[in-house]
Amino acid sequence: MTGTVLITGANRGIGLELASQYAADGWQVRACCQEPDRAERLQRIGESADGRLTIHALEVTDRERIQVLASELEGQAIDILFNNAGVRGGDHQTLGDVDLDNWLQTLRVNTIAPLLMVEAFLPLVARSRRRIIAIMGSTMGSIAENASGGQYIYRTTKAAAHMVGRSLASDLRSQGIISVLLHPGWVRTDMGGVNAPVSPADSVAGLRRVLAGLQLKDSGRFFDFQGRERRW
Ligand SMILES: NC(=O)c1ccc[n+]([C@@H]2O[C@H](COP(=O)([O-])OP(=O)(O)OC[C@H]3O[C@@H](n4cnc5c(N)ncnc54)[C@H](OP(=O)(O)O)[C@@H]3O)[C@@H](O)[C@H]2O)c1
Repeated sequence: MTGTVLITGANRGIGLELASQYAADGWQVRACCQEPDRAERLQRIGESADGRLTIHALEVTDRERIQVLASELEGQAIDILFNNAGVRGGDHQTLGDVDLDNWLQTLRVNTIAPLLMVEAFLPLVARSRRRIIAIMGSTMGSIAENASGGQYIYRTTKAAAHMVGRSLASDLRSQGIISVLLHPGWVRTDMGGVNAPVSPADSVAGLRRVLAGLQLKDSGRFFDFQGRERRW
């Protein structure tokens, strides 16, 4: 089954792989990135997608731009709103050395932006058949799984993103909209680094399988790319 997916941060890493796999599978892809002119790999995927992939400029903390893009796409149905864009929060996030400005900026990207996106794109998601909102969380944002400490900025902003997705599940259930949190695994990207065990291809294949199998009863749950439910 195909549909339309909107992906943030689609120019590299997991977002690029999401765009690539969905496009190859026949989906309509609305691929968002900060600098379309510099997104050469995404452009190449678009060129071989028979017009099914469109690229849109979007810096996810820019509320005005989010609204403009939602208006530009008005009338379309978005089956999966995939809030993928994220940042790690820089090198200063250990006890005694936390960069407060970076913390706030990371909160804007990882936590607040997904909510702004949902607010703007809700009518387009509601119009679709699948009606899925996915927020990229992380087991690094799991309080139950935190056995090693540190990483204050990344951990707190992802934990808060989990809460955004969980509240959305309650708020949107009556509209038949599914909101899920996803953990992609530890993935070989700029963020995950070269030693990460999971390839973007395997991570995304798994995430897509999870999304394809979702039902309304799954809304508000936190799954990893292998379909396992993770602890909050
Ligand atoms: N890799 C892992 O092991 C791992 C594990 C758990 C969770 N995650 C999560 O998975 C998601 C993707 O991670 P990744 O590994 O693919 O990271 P990545 O390779 O660093 O890519 C991050 C993507 O987010 C975009 N982005 C960052 N800030 C943005 C902003 N303000 N507006 C729009 N786009 C922005 C980047 O765009 P630019 O190129 O323009 O900067 C890039 O496309 C993130 O949410 C991350 O936290 C990753």
